[in-house]
Amino acid sequence: MVQRRSQRFQFDTLEIDRSATQPLHRQLESQLRDAIRAGRLRPGEKLPSTRGLCRELQIARNTVAAAYEQLLAEGFLEAEIGSGTRVSQQLPENMAPAASGKQTAPRPLRRRLAQRAGNIERFADWAPRIITAPQPFRPHTPAIDHFPRDIWQRLADRRLRRLPRLTFMGVDPAGYAPLRSAIAAYLGASRGLACAAEQIVVTSGAQQGLELIARLLLDPGDRFWLEEPGYCPAWHAFTTHGAIGAAIPVDEQGIDVAVGEQLCPAARLAYVTPSVQWPGGMTMSLPRRLQLLDWAERNEAWIVEDDYVGEFRFAGRPQQALAAHDPHGSVLYLGTFSKVLFPGLRLGYLVVPEPLVRSFATSRWLADRHSPVFEQATLTDFIEEGHFARHLRRMRKLYAVRQQAMFAALDAAFGSAIDYDRHEAGLHVVVQTRDARQNRRLQRAAHEAGVEYHAVDQYSAVDHKTPGLILGFAAFDEAQIAEAVQAWAQRFFSS
Ligand SMILES: Cc1ncc(COP(=O)(O)O)c(C=O)c1O
Repeated sequence: MVQRRSQRFQFDTLEIDRSATQPLHRQLESQLRDAIRAGRLRPGEKLPSTRGLCRELQIARNTVAAAYEQLLAEGFLEAEIGSGTRVSQQLPENMAPAASGKQTAPRPLRRRLAQRAGNIERFADWAPRIITAPQPFRPHTPAIDHFPRDIWQRLADRRLRRLPRLTFMGVDPAGYAPLRSAIAAYLGASRGLACAAEQIVVTSGAQQGLELIARLLLDPGDRFWLEEPGYCPAWHAFTTHGAIGAAIPVDEQGIDVAVGEQLCPAARLAYVTPSVQWPGGMTMSLPRRLQLLDWAERNEAWIVEDDYVGEFRFAGRPQQALAAHDPHGSVLYLGTFSKVLFPGLRLGYLVVPEPLVRSFATSRWLADRHSPVFEQATLTDFIEEGHFARHLRRMRKLYAVRQQAMFAALDAAFGSAIDYDRHEAGLHVVVQTRDARQNRRLQRAAHEAGVEYHAVDQYSAVDHKTPGLILGFAAFDEAQIAEAVQAWAQRFFSS
């Protein structure tokens, strides 16, 4: 229904479905959010009090309060003492309503898209349109509230004043030279990876590294290995370029190279997460690493080592990168600042054999020239002046405490009803129950308690049956962890 601009939003049109698995506050929250985004609820418009709306919709007042709270946190609503809750005048970026306030159906396209577009559109659900405030235990989320903004701001201000004017014109598409040197020095010291600054290609996060790899190393019809379950966004990047994936099982030592050789002997490339397998959490053993390197050498195949979270190991000795054991130049090493700093920074890097650097840089040049120079320069200072190492040390301590809090909360609340592996590395834990029915109950209880998770089977490229919930603990303090796990367990045991 199209509303006239002057017409006020009718709150009694909100529909709450008590039989749905989605919690009531989430239903209310998403309908209000949609109404704001579609312009049916306009900036400045007043919302009913929580008491008024709960009476109107016949739901608990807490349910309304939880929905309002979430939308306040996301910036859709604003509240002032004495004047109630209103739709924000300043809506979050990209979320302002259409100027007309009307919702018009998009006109069907009359021109043909490339066939490749079909490959890309299949993954549309993976690309979020709205980033909501993370609830326990959303994976892929570092403790962004611990990022030292004041230091970054000081460095950024100084760079803005002092960066040579010529740099305003742009830099080498392989990256700002001092940043490439700083990254090479860091990798040598922390990951045992001796590489030259000239081998570093700065990217817009790990995902762009995968995209560049797909373009340069895989032809349509080429086969690649990916861990099963594994990091599907890599599968997406490679298959959109026409490559064909083979899902290779993992065991407690990492990817099963022998099975890979049976299933798909002629693969051109293997994508792996050796330091903390995503999502399993295990570390690839040394024999497996050597076996994988040997396979790559015999088959003239590439290995892509995604070291997305190798910095976070809380017990035992730090692991060397797989690339550090590679004498033949078959490993392309992929790093990112998304976990150690924050994902919105969109800075990562590839370490590639030197003869490939110019191809990667040219591909980057064709795509978008290079990453923004101010962010690259500020990050260089952040590393060179010791702030990066300090931040990393602080975060390692913080995450170690949070991981132990997570283990303790799970043990106390669920006891032997669930299983999980205590890998003392990475920023997530995978929890499962004994059978599929219990696993569904565990997922339902999580929904009802408002616990966020990713399902392991979401990261399965083939069978989609692997049980388990992936829980990220990094962004939540000990009290939040204990409270969310308790609420979840209460729902689970009372269902
Ligand atoms: C396995 C894996 N690789 C890479 C990334 C990071 O990607 P990006 O650097 O593009 O944010 C993630 C993050 O969430 C991940 O889980």
